[in-house]
Amino acid sequence: MRIVLLGPPGAGKGTQAVMLAEKKGFLHLSTGDILRENVKNKTDIGRKAKEFMEKGELVPDDIVLRMMLDTIKNARGKNDFILDGFPRTVYQAKKLDKELDKLKLAIDMAVYFKTSTKTVIFRLTGRRLCSKCGANYHIVNMPTKKQGVCDKCGSELYQRKDDSEETIKKRLEVYDNQTKDLIDYYKAQGILKEVSGDLEAPKVYSELSEILNTCKPDDRHKVRK
Ligand code: AP5
Repeated sequence: MRIVLLGPPGAGKGTQAVMLAEKKGFLHLSTGDILRENVKNKTDIGRKAKEFMEKGELVPDDIVLRMMLDTIKNARGKNDFILDGFPRTVYQAKKLDKELDKLKLAIDMAVYFKTSTKTVIFRLTGRRLCSKCGANYHIVNMPTKKQGVCDKCGSELYQRKDDSEETIKKRLEVYDNQTKDLIDYYKAQGILKEVSGDLEAPKVYSELSEILNTCKPDDRHKVRK
């Protein structure tokens, strides 16, 4: 099954994708994580993407598309995957559909995390990440046992540069102007589902699990042929 997670920054897409990967064996493909890895390793993609990411703007479609379509093709043996942060524009979504079609695959479900602005600002300003294993925490909602230290590997936590209040505002604006239209795009395909992103993480996960149980991917492939 192939699932797209949609929603504003801080809606909890990454948190739920990690849970689904751990508990149900999905491959988790996060554009943000892949881009940040490229920035860290100073690759060609990383050098081009850095300034856009730091400003809270979208990285140009051509860069992201090449990177993600290659990732999906190379992951072909593993056909159950979750796309977290991709597509982010209707243009990206159309290109993705076209590419999946060539591989005789399709997106089976897009899950929209309906989340209030107040919640996302609170979550993003309080988010902390492990500098080594990437584990995700929140200073209030999901604190570590020892302040500033990762529970899983004992490494130091850090705050993402784009999690400053000013950049968060920009990211929300970009989401409203460039990403929100994807809700209608997937609604028109009849594959849009919704979860309440404002709820606590285990409750969101249980809504997601219920939705997953109702999805029959084979039906969708029949429609596409
Ligand atoms: P990306 O990394 O994808 O950032 P984002 O979409 O802004 O999403 P976030 O990671 O901020 O939020 P999330 O919904 O995953 O929330 P999380 O689970 O972490 O992208 C970064 C940048 O890369 C973009 O700005 C852009 O420049 C570029 N980019 C990426 N994809 C692109 C594309 N396709 N095209 C062009 N450019 C692209 O949770 C947030 C916090 O809340 C955490 O602290 C967590 O612990 C806590 N939390 C989560 N869920 C809950 C809950 N239910 N209750 C309480 N706390 C919770």
